[in-house]
Amino acid sequence: MTSLFQRSKEIILENQNSSGGYIASPNFSTYHYSWFRDSSFIAYSMNSIGEHHSADKFHQWAAENILKREETIQRAIQKAQNGFPLGEQDILHTRYGLTGNVSDEDWPNFQLDGFGTWLWALAEHQKLSGFRASTTTLRAAGLLGQYLGALWHLPCYDSWEEFPDKIHTYTLAAIYAGLNADIEGIKGKYEQQLAEISSFILNNAVTEDRLIKYIGSVDVDANLIGISVPYNLIAPTNPLMIATVKKIEEKLIHGGGLHRYSSDTYFGGGEWVLLTAWLGWYYLAAGEVQKAKQALAWVEAQADAANQLPEQVPNTLNDKSFYQYWVDRWGNIANPLLWSHAQYIILYTALNEVNGL
Ligand code: BGC
Repeated sequence: MTSLFQRSKEIILENQNSSGGYIASPNFSTYHYSWFRDSSFIAYSMNSIGEHHSADKFHQWAAENILKREETIQRAIQKAQNGFPLGEQDILHTRYGLTGNVSDEDWPNFQLDGFGTWLWALAEHQKLSGFRASTTTLRAAGLLGQYLGALWHLPCYDSWEEFPDKIHTYTLAAIYAGLNADIEGIKGKYEQQLAEISSFILNNAVTEDRLIKYIGSVDVDANLIGISVPYNLIAPTNPLMIATVKKIEEKLIHGGGLHRYSSDTYFGGGEWVLLTAWLGWYYLAAGEVQKAKQALAWVEAQADAANQLPEQVPNTLNDKSFYQYWVDRWGNIANPLLWSHAQYIILYTALNEVNGL
């Protein structure tokens, strides 16, 4: 029988277009696009198991698509630096067709986290593969660095494509990781922004002793794990991070899996596979190997008979009344979701390295 690990790798490779783009999910038409956010983690998962050519093709595809939009990026930078508001025409979209096209469909396009994550993943790609980024890729990375360096303080949609008028802690941390990435033309160039972002987070995104979902909120979001792993803005064992994860465990784990946030109603707000694996990744970095293994076991138990991992499982919904609403609107929960498989691979591989399974 093919293991979930093996099948996860196949699902990712089978769903990488010859252009290099990774589709978010093949069986869910709304997700027939490549997101920078999902794909950066997917590429990292491929690097983590030595599939460097897959990651490399993705990074080249991403870089070409960024460069096609150089004019938009320059305009955004100009406007942001001069304090002008940015319109839909001035920003990078968040999801791209596999040929790099953007859709006309109305979508929450203004999201900054995926570009920060891309720079982080590109640096990891260079480190893990030993490949050197091409001139094209470096140029795209440099442009994105400028884009993020100028726009980081603006409200935008979060990693769940919601709350556009807020400044999100996770988004700031993803931008931080991007501007801190070990990439020629980026590293060392954004010291001022890095200092501003970290002091902004510490001054505005902490309540009591822990981090909050967005500025002005008191809630936690499971994505706050990212601030530590992999973005490395706060160490996994820093008391602030420990208190944040404790709150995440208290509020967002029901039924063994991790919910995005308490009032999430997307498909009723179920337990997310990729987030549970991500929490396991954090546990490992914090030295909690047993808890990481439990997270892995929970994720494995969510695979269907074809060894596919969905986006979320609807067992302990935040609000049942929204489940059918989303099924009627967009169809059944995305399955397989490449990002779920990627986070599984990341956790599985990291656990193997640390401990052997
Ligand atoms: C999630 C995003 C994700 C997208 C594609 C959305 O429902 O909120 O985080 O990038 O799906 O997987």
